[in-house]
Amino acid sequence: MAGPGVYRAGRPVYPEQELRALSESDLPDILEIERLSYSYPWSEGVFRDTFRSGYAVLGLVQGSRLEGYGVLATLYDEAHLLNLCMRPASRGRGLARQLLRALLRGAVLQGMQRVVLEVRVSNRAARRLYESEGFELVGERPGYYPDGVSPEDALVMALGLAGPASPVT
Ligand SMILES: CC(C)(COP(=O)(O)OP(=O)(O)OC[C@H]1O[C@@H](n2cnc3c(N)ncnc32)[C@H](O)[C@@H]1OP(=O)(O)O)[C@@H](O)C(=O)NCCC(=O)NCCS
Repeated sequence: MAGPGVYRAGRPVYPEQELRALSESDLPDILEIERLSYSYPWSEGVFRDTFRSGYAVLGLVQGSRLEGYGVLATLYDEAHLLNLCMRPASRGRGLARQLLRALLRGAVLQGMQRVVLEVRVSNRAARRLYESEGFELVGERPGYYPDGVSPEDALVMALGLAGPASPVT
């Protein structure tokens, strides 16, 4: 585990971080984090399709360990954040915010006008992260997450990259 190797003045010092595009060779690490994080994780097949579709799969690596990843799909001038996930042991250190900002920078560079995402109503941590980065609530999708007998609604959030967010239809 590439956690803090050194403590200075009683505070943990972490290895240097790197953001890099991930590939299918990163799948074992991606799947480990995914399965630790979600009750309904994406399967290996879904991730393989993601790579084949040419979606942006960006990882945050610290030392030699993958700490988290984000998946962004683009269609015309709109990006869709499909996944953002951090290793449970590495949460609460601002890493997801860094990863999200890097994905957003990439979307701007590709000329995207807006980023849209779905988030579980109950996912307080993710909702706060997105709100604090300027995402606004633009819709709801009832029962979006099947979850067996008690499906959960999704909130749809959007961030305008070139102007104010507008409602989805
Ligand atoms: C949501 C998630 C990506 C956040 O990752 P993280 O690395 O812990 O987030 P950060 O440390 O960058 O925190 C960024 C902001 O998120 C919010 N946040 C993070 N954890 C939180 C928590 N436990 N409770 C409330 N808000 C929280 C805060 O606004 C925080 O900013 P602050 O530290 O200035 O208050 C992470 O919890 C995760 O991977 N969850 C499982 C997968 C998931 O649900 N992904 C989202 C799918 S839509």
